[in-house]
Amino acid sequence: MSLRIGDTAPDFTIPTTKGDISFHDWAGDKWVFLFSHPADFTPVCTTEMGRTSQLADEFAARNVLPLGLSTDSVEEHLKWIDDVNDTQNTDLSFPIIADIDHAVAQAYDMIHPGESETAAVRSVFIIDPNKKIRLTMTYPMSVGRNFDEILRVVDALQTGDKYKVATPADWVMGAKVIIPPSVTNQAARTQFPQGWDEVRPYLRFTKV
Ligand code: BEZ
Repeated sequence: MSLRIGDTAPDFTIPTTKGDISFHDWAGDKWVFLFSHPADFTPVCTTEMGRTSQLADEFAARNVLPLGLSTDSVEEHLKWIDDVNDTQNTDLSFPIIADIDHAVAQAYDMIHPGESETAAVRSVFIIDPNKKIRLTMTYPMSVGRNFDEILRVVDALQTGDKYKVATPADWVMGAKVIIPPSVTNQAARTQFPQGWDEVRPYLRFTKV
């Protein structure tokens, strides 16, 4: 059965471009952006790896460790990283898992046989410091992911955790958030002394 939001992210020990890692120990108290790609030396994947590397400071600012994965070997990954750096003008420093026997890809349901029997699709798992899966996304091989969206959902999850709020459609950092309907007005007066805009009793916006 596939992994779902709220599940504990399965632990594993596996070779990467930065040596063997035991996932839970490696993640420590950080958030993790675990993402798979179909194959090294392919065009969409090259742009995605480059973009992740270019955004290293943005991930670090959010306490997030990127962790790539494909079913290619460490040797292939290392050769490809030179190419990613060269073509995407970056210096890729996060680990990429070499899942040559598909152990992690199977555990995380990253291989979708209708798309490919052997290569991973573009899966995303955002995993919190308690090792809980907080968000999943799955993209086909032909569509590169939107990394602004990946940073945005991390911001939304972290803001939600910090202030016990939800975030509306197209929310970005700094925009108004939603007071969950489970919070009574009486409780909200304590939790949100700054007040709120009440569009409906179930639709209350505030600034945090
Ligand atoms: C790509 O990264 O461009 C790609 C990889 C596998 C299948 C299709 C596209």
